[in-house]
Amino acid sequence: MSAPATPHAANRLDLEAIRREFPILARRVHGDRALVYLDSAASSQKPRAVIDALSHYYGHTHSNVHRGVHLLSTEATDAYEQAREKIAAFIGAASARECVFVRGTTEAINLVSQAWARPRLGPGDEVLVTAMEHHSNLVPWQMVCEQTGARLVAAPIDERGDLIVDAWRERLSSRTRLVALTHVSNALGTLNPVAELTALAHEAGARVLIDGAQGVPHLPVDVAALGCDFYAFSGHKMYGPTGIGVLWGREDVLAETGPWEGGGSMIRSVTLEKTIFADPPQRFEAGTPHIAGAVGLGAAVDWLDALEMEALEAHEAGLVDYALERLASVPEIRLIGTPRQRVGVISFVTGDIHPHDMGTFLDREGVAVRVGHHCAQPVMQHFGIPATTRASFAVHNGTDDVDALVAGIRAVVEFFA
Ligand code: ALA
Repeated sequence: MSAPATPHAANRLDLEAIRREFPILARRVHGDRALVYLDSAASSQKPRAVIDALSHYYGHTHSNVHRGVHLLSTEATDAYEQAREKIAAFIGAASARECVFVRGTTEAINLVSQAWARPRLGPGDEVLVTAMEHHSNLVPWQMVCEQTGARLVAAPIDERGDLIVDAWRERLSSRTRLVALTHVSNALGTLNPVAELTALAHEAGARVLIDGAQGVPHLPVDVAALGCDFYAFSGHKMYGPTGIGVLWGREDVLAETGPWEGGGSMIRSVTLEKTIFADPPQRFEAGTPHIAGAVGLGAAVDWLDALEMEALEAHEAGLVDYALERLASVPEIRLIGTPRQRVGVISFVTGDIHPHDMGTFLDREGVAVRVGHHCAQPVMQHFGIPATTRASFAVHNGTDDVDALVAGIRAVVEFFA
């Protein structure tokens, strides 16, 4: 008997029906090969519901928001604000006012570093990060430390790719003004105990920002339960459009955050001498926003809600277990990262075969993976390698995708033998 599409009885998803919702999965590549898409951590594919929402918005509703009195402007504003409401409910926000639309996780973190941290940091202050952060949760902190004289402190990871929590705690002190921490490592798949670490950070008097770019697409996220101050994520990794993301900030924390970009829509009143800024979230949304992106992200949230995140999580957990088991059957594979709790991502190297060669060969077989440093060069430095091959999973993947990956890797290993 062939393996079931998903190996865990807990799975409630109809995989074939889900696959039919992604038009791109019907594509053939490199001649007549089926597309095996294992690069959702870089960017997920889009279900028909999201594509249709974008098309409907532009074909029926589009105008500018928060400005017009005419019907289309009112409808566009309603669609934009309804999307904010949906997203707030999806992540357990106390109110939609806590959700700021941004371009993505990178912009969200830059907003916090420049608008919240920069006016508060000075010599003697510290920002605590980890050695597994994506560059987007590292470089903005390096920049703001350079600008303010604060010190960036990084907690190390161990040989499995887990955060060394004791070392992290040793680095947490009354000097720590902000803790920036990824929910899930994009390079290793490590799931961090963010609620526990947030509680410790708060005891030390620090604010906490969680990079949720690889969390929200895979796990039910409840920002109130996590207890953090800021949570950042991108629409395009959670089946939504590119160019839209969300900075969630607790209402009191956003209220104490000064403006980010200046311009239209973020003001209450302007004279030639002075501006009174709007309340959050408008204070942080200068200029015409990505209205269609927000609407599309709202559609992605509806789609995920209908699937149920718990079912998606169980499906992917089963798939990751299956993939780890199958990859263990190829002796040449060295996993990079064997975290105790893993979500969505498996990184590996294969003997002396360069990951770029591996990725290129797999692509010819129709298997799309990401190769490189995954914007996490300190992780590569920790493991003493320049790059990995990374397979990342989404709700439309099944064991057949894993089998195609393993068959492709075996063929590459044999070719280079
Ligand atoms: N941060 C994205 C990734 O991990 C681009 O691939």
